[in-house]
Order: sequence, then structure tokens, then C-alpha cells
Amino acid sequence: MERASLGSGLLNFLPVLLLLLVTHVCAGVMSPSEKESISIKKGLCPELEGKSRYTIWATRYDNETGVCYMTGQKGPCGKNMIFYSVANDQVYGECDCNYDIECKSLIYSPVFKECVYAYDQGHCNEGYWLVADKEGKPSCERNLCRPPPKYSLKYKWALFKGRCERLFQSDVHDCKPGEYLWVPKGHRYPICGKAECRNPHSFVPTLQCELGSKLFHEDRCTRRKGI
Ligand SMILES: *[C@@H]1O[C@H](CO)[C@@H](O)[C@H](O)[C@H]1NC(C)=O
Repeated sequence: MERASLGSGLLNFLPVLLLLLVTHVCAGVMSPSEKESISIKKGLCPELEGKSRYTIWATRYDNETGVCYMTGQKGPCGKNMIFYSVANDQVYGECDCNYDIECKSLIYSPVFKECVYAYDQGHCNEGYWLVADKEGKPSCERNLCRPPPKYSLKYKWALFKGRCERLFQSDVHDCKPGEYLWVPKGHRYPICGKAECRNPHSFVPTLQCELGSKLFHEDRCTRRKGI
């Protein structure tokens, strides 16, 4: 009898409990798992003790170097790379190409542990360029815009509609006046336009499967539709 009334009492309180839960979440009260992550993080990064909530929130631990770094900064990463938070993870971070600020296609070079712009040579042999392949993985492919002097080494070339065209030059006849060819992130081939970056700045940039990324190189992405 008492148990039944307790049960129905709880049921009566359910809407109130839900409301409390929602208001607590909105007020930024940490869940037990968030608290646990923060205590793990403080264990790995003792220097966070006494730091601001923002610094603690934006810092991640790097397994490779055993050191903690602010996300969105260079940290331990190679050229054209930044330190990211691992998706859905409060504790760990990793380097990948700087897609957060750069809107151009960057390709990870596992040899140099840095990122280069698509269609640069990177670590590839003479006569090859570094691009994202059909699967999105960084790949050395034959540079078809060779040899000089037909394709001057002074310019950057890429394939556009099956032809060799110069990037960042406004004289490509397929582009509108004032536009030029460039390779935006997520694209394998150049498009006409302007290399403008309209990314909203994210305070804690998160690793994502961009074409040519370290994540793709490490087989940690599945092929996306349409590439
Ligand atoms: C780092 O190492 C920990 C413990 O071995 C593991 O749980 C975590 O997934 C690793 N994180 C990354 C980003 O490699």
C-alpha cells in the first residue's frame, strides 16, 4: 500500500523532475560523466589546476606527446595543422590539417607529418602531386600538368574539367570575371570562385573527416557520398 502511493507520488513529480533536469542542463550544471571527464583531464594535465573554466574546457590531452594543449592552436602539430578535440570526447585531442581557419583543401602528408595544399608535391616523387583520392585518402598521383615549359613551374596547376589550368589566375575562360580556380576543402578538383573563408570560428574545433585529412589517411573515416 505504501509502496503504491510512493510510486504514484513519484509519477506526480515526474514533470517537476523533468523540468528541474532541463533547467539544470541549461544552467550549465555538469553531468556526472562531464565531471568524471574533467577529473580525468585534470589528472592528465595537472597544470590545469586553478585555470579558468574556459581553459579547462578548451584543453585536451595528446596521447602522442603526453602533453596537454589548447585546441584550435598549433600545439605539437606540423605545418598547416592544428590541435583538435576528438569528437564526443572531453579528454583527448589530436592534430589534423587546419580546416578550421583554412578553407582550401589541405592534404595530410604522413611522411612529413604536415599538411600541404592539394596539388602540391608534398612528399611525393618528382612528377607526382598530393591529392585526395576517390576514397578521400591522401594519395600521390601522377602530375598530369607536366612537363615544363608548356606548364611553367612558376605557376600552380590542377586538373579542371580534364584540362590543366592554373589556380588563382583570373584568366580561366570557364570562370566568371573576377573569379579564379581554387580547391575548397572537401573538394577533389578546383572550382571557380574566390578563396574566401566564411567559417564561423569554433572555440573548440573538433576532428572531422575532411577529404585528405589525417583521419582519412588512418582509415578512420568511411567514404562519403558524392566524392
Ligand atoms: C588515448 O589513449 C587512451 C588510453 O589508452 C584511449 O582511451 C584514447 O582513446 C586515446 N585517444 C586518442 C585520441 O588516441
